[in-house]
Amino acid sequence: MSKLDITIAGEINLDLILYGLPELMPTERELLASGFAITLGSSSAILAHNLAALGSRVGFVTKVGDDAFGALALQRLRERGVDLAGIAHGAKSGVTVILPHGPDRHILTYPGTISELRFEQLDLDYLASARHFHMSSLFLQRQLLPRVPELFRRMKSAGLTTSLDTNDDPEDRWDSILEEILPHVDILLPNHREAMKISRADNVETALSRLAQKVNTVVVKMGDRGAVALRDGRRFSAPAIPVTVIDAVGAGDSFDAGFLHQFLQGGDLTTCLACGNLCGAFSVTDCGGTEAFRDPARLQEFLRLAREH
Ligand SMILES: Nc1ncnc2c1ncn2[C@@H]1O[C@H](COP(=O)(O)OP(=O)(O)OP(=O)(O)O)[C@@H](O)[C@H]1O
Ligand SMILES: [Mg+2]
Repeated sequence: MSKLDITIAGEINLDLILYGLPELMPTERELLASGFAITLGSSSAILAHNLAALGSRVGFVTKVGDDAFGALALQRLRERGVDLAGIAHGAKSGVTVILPHGPDRHILTYPGTISELRFEQLDLDYLASARHFHMSSLFLQRQLLPRVPELFRRMKSAGLTTSLDTNDDPEDRWDSILEEILPHVDILLPNHREAMKISRADNVETALSRLAQKVNTVVVKMGDRGAVALRDGRRFSAPAIPVTVIDAVGAGDSFDAGFLHQFLQGGDLTTCLACGNLCGAFSVTDCGGTEAFRDPARLQEFLRLAREH
């Protein structure tokens, strides 16, 4: 096998998305949705899938449920050629049910195997066999979390570059363990809410400068306002690409895929941000975080058209 570009350790599950629900959702009533999608969900798996769709060589380490949901989730990754040599198996898949209604959405998750991955199950040699190591959804990794600082430290000492997208903390605690992880992180990829929570700042600019004192490159995702970054005291920004939105599920993970794909190709920060915004925008044009990326021809056409404008 040729050397992997990136290894990712994290969670895998399907997303069940019901579209067109009424804005008010009373209990004890039969509420009809106008559309339904089952997609590969979970930040880590979405990133693995979309990075592979872009052409990066991806190794994904996870704990997958031994049931039909787990099998379908793995099939989606195999279709894109993600290397699954290091996965572990558990009893019951987690699942996320997403209910967009009105301007907001309910996001309901049963964790299942999502939070069961343990440090002892990780093949550290496999993880270190790539050029770059990444983790997403840090706070869902309840078993692994206490040893994540050690994991990042080991990857750095094996010569890999590293990145982290914390995503949200369901308990809103933003545990101090982050302080032990950040010294081993090269690229931090939060959204604007998360950046402020992590740094205890009340605005994005303060968050950027505080975080940039701890990691080499801070990239903050700003939804339909694009993204900003800070490295070596230089601030960069890149606008979002205007598109027709189906849903924003996985936009952040798709941004990460575009950004890291360019980073792994040796792209400069401006190029990485632009590719992140392109992939975030492409993701919102179809259901969930991975459906758009399942058609390689459509992905290449979107990237080609965007380059021409
Ligand atoms: N409505 C939109 N139109 C165009 N691009 C978008 C839109 N929403 C998101 N994006 C793109 O996706 C990127 C990531 O979106 P966002 O800031 O919502 O990340 P996030 O909150 O981490 O998402 P996630 O819920 O997947 O974790 C943005 O920086 C932007 O490039
Ligand atoms: Mg996110």
